This record gives sequence, C-alpha cells and structure tokens, in this order.
Amino acid sequence: MREYVKGFPKDFLWGGAVAANQCEGAFDADGKGLSIQDFHPYTKNLDRTKLDFNHMTKEYLEALMSDESLYFPKRYGVDFYHRYKEYLALLAEMNFSTFRLSIAWTRIFPNGDEAEPNEAGLKYYDDVFDEMKRLNIEPIVTINHYDLPINLTLKHNGWYDRKCIDLFTKYADVVLKRYKDKVKYWIIINQINLIQYECFGSLGILSDTVENYKQAQFQAIHHQFVASAQVIENARAINENFRIGTMIADSTMYPFSCKPEDVTLTLKRNRMQYFFTDVQFRGEYPMYAIQHFKQEGIHLNIEPGDEQVIKRNSPDFLCISYYYSYCLDASKNTMDPASTTKNPYLKANEWGWAINPMGMYSTVSQYWDRYQVPIMIGENGFGYQDVLENDGSVHDDYRIDYLREHIKALKQAVCDGVELFAYCSWTPFDIISAGTAEISKRYGYIYVDLDDMGQGSGKLYKKDSFAWYKKVIESNGEIL
Ligand code: BG6
Repeated sequence: MREYVKGFPKDFLWGGAVAANQCEGAFDADGKGLSIQDFHPYTKNLDRTKLDFNHMTKEYLEALMSDESLYFPKRYGVDFYHRYKEYLALLAEMNFSTFRLSIAWTRIFPNGDEAEPNEAGLKYYDDVFDEMKRLNIEPIVTINHYDLPINLTLKHNGWYDRKCIDLFTKYADVVLKRYKDKVKYWIIINQINLIQYECFGSLGILSDTVENYKQAQFQAIHHQFVASAQVIENARAINENFRIGTMIADSTMYPFSCKPEDVTLTLKRNRMQYFFTDVQFRGEYPMYAIQHFKQEGIHLNIEPGDEQVIKRNSPDFLCISYYYSYCLDASKNTMDPASTTKNPYLKANEWGWAINPMGMYSTVSQYWDRYQVPIMIGENGFGYQDVLENDGSVHDDYRIDYLREHIKALKQAVCDGVELFAYCSWTPFDIISAGTAEISKRYGYIYVDLDDMGQGSGKLYKKDSFAWYKKVIESNGEIL
C-alpha cells in the first residue's frame, strides 16, 4: 500500500507563470517580428465581461493594422525584455523554485517562415535561462502562448492551413535543441482546448474567410494535435530527460440543477472539454467527438500518418490552468461552448470570473482519475483592480483569500492521491491581460506602476500577497 500523504511532496515546485506577449514588451527589438497579439488594442470603457479579440475578421484586422490612433498594450508589456533581472530577483526573494514563461515565436522566427532563426532572439532566452539558473529557479517553458506570427495569419490563415504544422515544428526544434541543457520542462501550446474564448489568439484564423467556422476551428486543432505529437517525438530524440506536457484550461461545468436534462448536458459538454486531452493521452479521436462532428456537419481532413503520430506520442504530463467554473441549464444552454449560466452560489470578480476553490479540487481529481499522469497547475489567480496607496503599499487581502482557498483545495487533492508536481500562480507581477488588454486587471504579488495606456513610473511595489506567498513557499504549503 502507498504511504499516507500529508501535504505537498518535498520536491514540489512553487512559482508563477507569465506569457511573453503579455510581459516582455520590446515588440520590435533585436529583430522581433509582429505577432497577432501586437494588434490587440486597448479599449477604454470596455465591457469587461466580454472578450473583443476572440473572433477576428479580415476587415477588422486590416482596420487595426492601419489605425495609427490606437494603443496596443502588448507591444510594451511591463518591459520584462529589458528588466528581467529585476523581476527575477524579486521572484528569487519570494523563494520561487520555478517560473513558467514562454518563448516569443516572433523573436526566433520573426515572420514564422524564415529559413534561419534570429540569433539575437535565441541569445536573449539564453541570458534569461542563465539568470534563472543562477537564482535556482527551474524554468517551465511554453513554446507557443498565443503569439502566432501575424504573417502566418495573413498568408496561411493561421493553424487552419496544414503548413503551420511544419513551421511550428521547425521553430520548436530550434528552441528544444538550443536550450536542451537549460530547460527540462516544456509545454507545447498554451491551453490547447480554449478555442471558444481565445480562438483568434490560439489559432489565428480570420473567421470571415472560411465557409464553416466551426469546422475550420477543429481542423486547426487537428493540426495542433499533429504538430504537438511531432514535437514530442523530436524532443525525445533531442534529450531523453525532457518532460513535455500538454496544457488545457479547465472551466468545469456544473449542472444548474439535478434535473436529468441538466446533468446530461453537463456530462456531454464536459466530455467535449476532455476531447482535447482524450486525443492526446489516449491517442485517438473518441466516438462521442466523431458523433458530435457528424451532428454539427464538421468534416475533418485527416491525412495518412496523422493518427499514428498522435498515438505514438502522448505527453509526459498535463498542465492545467484553473480560474473559475460555470453552470449549465438545459432549458437555456446548448452544446455551444460559449453558452453558460452563472452559478448563483458563487461570487465573481468584476470580469465575471466566479470564485470556486472546490472546483480546483474536482478539476485536478477528475483529470487524475481519467489519465493518471503527473499534473501541474500552470495558472490560477485573481484579477483585481488593485490600489497603490501613498506609502507604496497594496492591500490585496482578496487575492490572498482566493489563493489560500485554492491551494488548500489542491492540497486536499494531493492528499487524496493526485500526483501534482508544481503550482504556478498567474502572475507573479502585473502584466497585460490576455482577454481585455488592460494592465488594471492585476494578478501579481508585485505591483507595476503603469496604467492601461502604459503611463506611469514603471516602479515595482510589493503587495501584501508578496510576503504571504513567500511564507507559503518556505513552508511548502503548510502555512496558508
Ligand atoms: C489564461 C491565459 O487563459 O488566462 C493567460 O493563458 C491569461 O494568457 C489568463 O492572461 C488570464 O486571463 P486575462 O484575460 O485575465 O489575462
């Protein structure tokens, strides 16, 4: 019998996570090309509960590309590109043992289809990883976090075109080889399942240029499955000690009531969330998905060899981001992933993200029960419009409460048998929001003094959560 588990394992990795396109800035430095995220404008007085950069049309993109009056916050981020030593020093002060960050595809291949990589871009990440090593911080590296080169959208309609498989695999090969002695943990694609919320960001498809948008999405996802499997195969040949993971965002659906209709719809919807990891870990398209595609009129072009490469290469671990949960009411909701009902028992933040720590427990437990592969939490955090006081303090007790309850739930899941090896909160320092391109949706333990238009001193201030998280790490999750 296995030994009784009391808490997080001794060698547990504690840290935080960011994405290059949301923090680095320096959008045109050292040969970097433009990614699709460099065209996400800041919108004043936006409806924060809606995402405006999800379904992109050709016309809207062209308008964004030629409108010089717009401000694009992700081009400037919080200047992690130049200030990485300052940021990393603060993470080391909190005793981070890991830091999840991404490589910007457009620093390595500025247009995504060059013959040779950009040496200045490669050198930059050498320096970042060397600094992390000096500080004893283990990198967990996402190869692609929402920053497809814009050129690949304009030329090939993003991941819809099969060409993206080779272009991405080539890019991944370059970074896996270059950093083979510096990085052990890799995540191939950020949140491969989140196409309903981050469709343009994740797949780069212009919705009005395809006949059947849903079909195009799943075709593009198929290309991501094939590319991911190919990357895993290549990575294993480069360094057998690599650990390569896939990543999903879980927004577990709960039945709105115990009505059998609500329960059944919830089961079917949750199954379509599992679809992504079912393909990757079980190595084939599940029958419920084939049935769903038939009902929706979706026909996938699967080439000979695709299913074999997927079958041969299941990932080593599963990275999960968890923020909130939703309900499903069969009298109102459908199989459309965007169709949800609010949970009346939960409070939510200003962006409508419901706070549900128990959902963390059920999420990791359910994925563990389904696949029995090591799990890491790659994102979990609380976006809030923090207030910087005159004395430089930021009292973010609401963030501490959120994180405490989620870590507690996670600990319970570990005690009940989930093999969890890392927890990365989103984010250690404030960065630009992926969904709404604001900095005022702040997640960090470190306040960055910039506003939504990039104005401010840029100075860094420790929030109350800084000292709290430091203690959590020092006590390996015992002092919460
Ligand atoms: C995750 C993304 O889905 O959610 C991150 O991987 C993102 O890139 C995070 O930042 C939080 O979303 P937002 O819109 O609050 O930044």
